[in-house]
Formats: sequence, structure tokens, C-alpha cells
Amino acid sequence: MRKPIIAANWKLNKGPSDTEDFIQSFESKLNDLPKGVDIVLAPPYISLPKATELLAHSRVRVAAQNMSEQDSGAYTGEISALMLKEVFVNYVILGHSERRAIYGESDALINAKVLKAHDLELRPIFCIGETLQEREDGKLEDVLRTQITDGLKDVSEKQMLDTVIAYEPVWAIGTGVTASPQQAQDAHEFVRSVLTDLYGVSVSEKVRIQYGGSVKPDNAKELLGQKDIDGALVGGAGLEVSSFADIIRNGVGE
Ligand code: 13P
Repeated sequence: MRKPIIAANWKLNKGPSDTEDFIQSFESKLNDLPKGVDIVLAPPYISLPKATELLAHSRVRVAAQNMSEQDSGAYTGEISALMLKEVFVNYVILGHSERRAIYGESDALINAKVLKAHDLELRPIFCIGETLQEREDGKLEDVLRTQITDGLKDVSEKQMLDTVIAYEPVWAIGTGVTASPQQAQDAHEFVRSVLTDLYGVSVSEKVRIQYGGSVKPDNAKELLGQKDIDGALVGGAGLEVSSFADIIRNGVGE
């Protein structure tokens, strides 16, 4: 049985003070939330130390939203894996479609970041997903297979078990349009079949695959009820304590 993992990706929202407000309020609700789920918050870099300090004794884990593939040196504006470890970050979101589309991150660069994260024992939340055009052109499976094969190149079986995959169809991100539970399940099943080709069934059956793209309290139950959907990567609805808590409650049940 795969333990569900639900993460809030705050993107470019919430500095340290808003992060503190959210965490204090969220922590007070935590006892009422289901136990059998990993919960992760991904604030912007500047808020990570505040988040990990406030959550030091909590079951809630903290993710960065990105990371450099480099260790140190003349890379203005970058943050290394070691720096994330120093402030007790546990996970790192890599290859988000906004990084791919807006900042031009390639599969090869994302692969270097994934390998670097594993070197430092940070768990990647590795994002993949197709654009609407790619889906309409019948390229869904080709796009996902390439993203997985190239993005996870040289990742060992053991490292794969510590990798979370987030399937986020680009057309469903921030649009209010969600993939139907069947569309999402079909894509997740395909992703798992690619993992089976690469790593064998005993690994692929253990890897957690999150769905992301307009996840809300009212669609969480049906989405997370699908056989191959093991959690959610939540954007907009993860910015409010009540909607994020409701997604966890509705998505996982008691
Ligand atoms: P929304 O939930 O706002 O669609 O964002 C999804 C996402 O990109 C999470 O990484």
C-alpha cells in the first residue's frame, strides 16, 4: 500500500510572516486531520528557515520549490542542495512546468538536479506533464515517456523509491480545469507502466505519483480515489489553511 502524499506548492506567495501565520493556524488543525498521509509545504526559499523551525517537531515536512544542480560558485541567484539541507528541508520540487516553460529548464538540467538532490538525500518531487497542444496532437504518452526517461536518467532503484512523481497536466494548472478522474488515472497508469519498463514492477508499484492541477476540496476525493493516484500537488487551494486541510480530509478520508 502506498502512503498518500499531499503537498502545497506556494509558488511565489508567502514571505516569512505569512508562512508563520499559515503554519500556526494549520498546526492547530493537524490533530483533526487523517494520520496516514504525508503532508508537505513548499514555501519560497526565503521562508524555508521559518517553516522548518516552526515545524521542527511536527509531522509536516518542508519542500523547496527548486534548487541548483551546482554545489557552489559563480551562479548568481541560485541555492544549493547543501544549503537546503542546512535549513532542514526534506523534499525539493524539480521540473515544475513553470520552471520548464518560463525558465527554459530542460530534461537534462532537471536530471542533473534530481541526481544532485539524491546525492544529498533530499527527496525530489519530480514534475511531468503535457501541454494542451501536445495532448490534442496525440503526443501525451511520448511527452511523458521522454520526461521520465530523460529526467530520471541514472537514478538508481533505491533512489527511485525515494522519488515522488507529480503528474501535472499543464492545461489544468491554475486554470480551474481539472483532468477528469479517468483522464488523470489513465495518465498515472501510463507513468507507472513506464516506471515498470525502467525499474521493474516491484519498484514501480511502490513509487508514489501525485496528481496536480486545480485540485480543490470538492474534487480531491474522486481524484485521490483512483487506483494509481497517490496524492496531490496543490497550488492555489494550498494557500488557504481551510481549503488545504479540506483537501487532505476529503482526499484521504479518516
Ligand atoms: P493549481 O492547484 O493552482 O492548479 O496549481 C497546481 C500546481 O502547479 C502545483 O504545483
